[in-house]
Amino acid sequence: MTKFISLKTSLPGPKSQEIAKRRERYIAKPMGSSLSPCYIAHGEGALITDVDGNQFIDLTGGWGCLAVGHTHKKVVAAIKDQVEKYLHTDFTAIPYECLVELAEKLVNLSPGNTPKAAAFFNSGAEAVENAVKIARAHTGRSAIIVFENAFHGRTLLTMTMTHKAMPYKYHFGPFAPEVYRLPFPCSSHPITNEDFEKLLVNTVTPDSVAAIVVEPIQGEGGFNVPQEGFLEYLRELTNKYGMLLVTDEIQSGIGRTGKFFAIENWDIEPDIVCLAKSLAAGLPLSAVIAKKEITDSLPGGCIGGTYVGNPLACRAALEVIKIIEEEHLLDRALKIGERLKERFLKMKGKYSIVGEVRGIGAMMAIELVKDRKTREPAAQETARIVQECIKNGVFIATAGINKNLLRMLVSLEITDEQLDEALDVLEKAIAKV
Ligand SMILES: Cc1ncc(COP(=O)(O)O)c(C=O)c1O
Repeated sequence: MTKFISLKTSLPGPKSQEIAKRRERYIAKPMGSSLSPCYIAHGEGALITDVDGNQFIDLTGGWGCLAVGHTHKKVVAAIKDQVEKYLHTDFTAIPYECLVELAEKLVNLSPGNTPKAAAFFNSGAEAVENAVKIARAHTGRSAIIVFENAFHGRTLLTMTMTHKAMPYKYHFGPFAPEVYRLPFPCSSHPITNEDFEKLLVNTVTPDSVAAIVVEPIQGEGGFNVPQEGFLEYLRELTNKYGMLLVTDEIQSGIGRTGKFFAIENWDIEPDIVCLAKSLAAGLPLSAVIAKKEITDSLPGGCIGGTYVGNPLACRAALEVIKIIEEEHLLDRALKIGERLKERFLKMKGKYSIVGEVRGIGAMMAIELVKDRKTREPAAQETARIVQECIKNGVFIATAGINKNLLRMLVSLEITDEQLDEALDVLEKAIAKV
């Protein structure tokens, strides 16, 4: 018997099937298929009810956007309040206080003592793209260094910075110039700092590099935690060559790792930080927080966009920050992480398909392999486990360049009981496959 999962129809139910037919006809195919064949009617915390009345536990958290869960009451109340006041002006036409307040909060929370300033955008890709524009203009250099397995978005520049070709780069070239890729030192690809520096100087002339852009923990690429000491070393290396260090915390930030900024897990002050996803509880909002001396070196008006820093999203983000503080969600992320790790390690003891368990805080994943020694990816099995989970009422996301990881992007509002129920379903699915 399950307490939270309640499946009343076969999946997908008749209403979802009917919508799916209309989707097939009217939605552009490159927008892809969905993880779930069922259409959502309502979400609350870590639970989703579909249009046929089936209830699921959602471990995907809107692909990592819902640290405070679906429809948190305080977020909803703030949005409703804002809806009654004004929806849009464009901050550069008629400014509003909630954007200033949000910048103030984020800047004051950001790691390090150097004065910072914030700029807002709509999507994660826009934040990364603008971080690169700012870094280039400030340094007067054009090259950008990114990493193997990186994911930075789908615009022309960020798709170029993203590693994986299919589906993200599918015949979408020519790609943006001056993007260089180096290995990401982690458990599966250890590499010494000295070798990394050699690779760097052999790949691109260091004094032409504006910035190194790094995910403190890689998200789509497989929850890869950098090799110990590597991020500190990157900080030294970027200082040595006059490059900026840009951290892309779009997936790892906003509390998921037990720190508000993922980079706080290390004693480092980046030059520029990119945030998005959980920042505004699912409303489109991203932020670039940079050292003020950097942003001050650019002229006014050179970055922006009509909808950037929308007031609804800013109000939601202010609530997200408050909720994380008031509900102690950073501690909760660590507790969720411990619970996940304990269960995953037990699964590893029982099922040979579970290779590595990795992550920090609630940003935890399991790698599924055909052979623990060769780490041959068990991609098809991973897909089957996901399907089995959905059939039994749990939505779960994959990750990794080979799609052989199951990653937790769960809301930090999930209860222990809900998490245990979801993990029981997952374990049964792994056992079955
Ligand atoms: C680390 C990282 N950077 C950038 C992006 C792109 O964000 P968006 O899809 O909002 O453009 C993502 C999205 O998954 C991400 O995980």
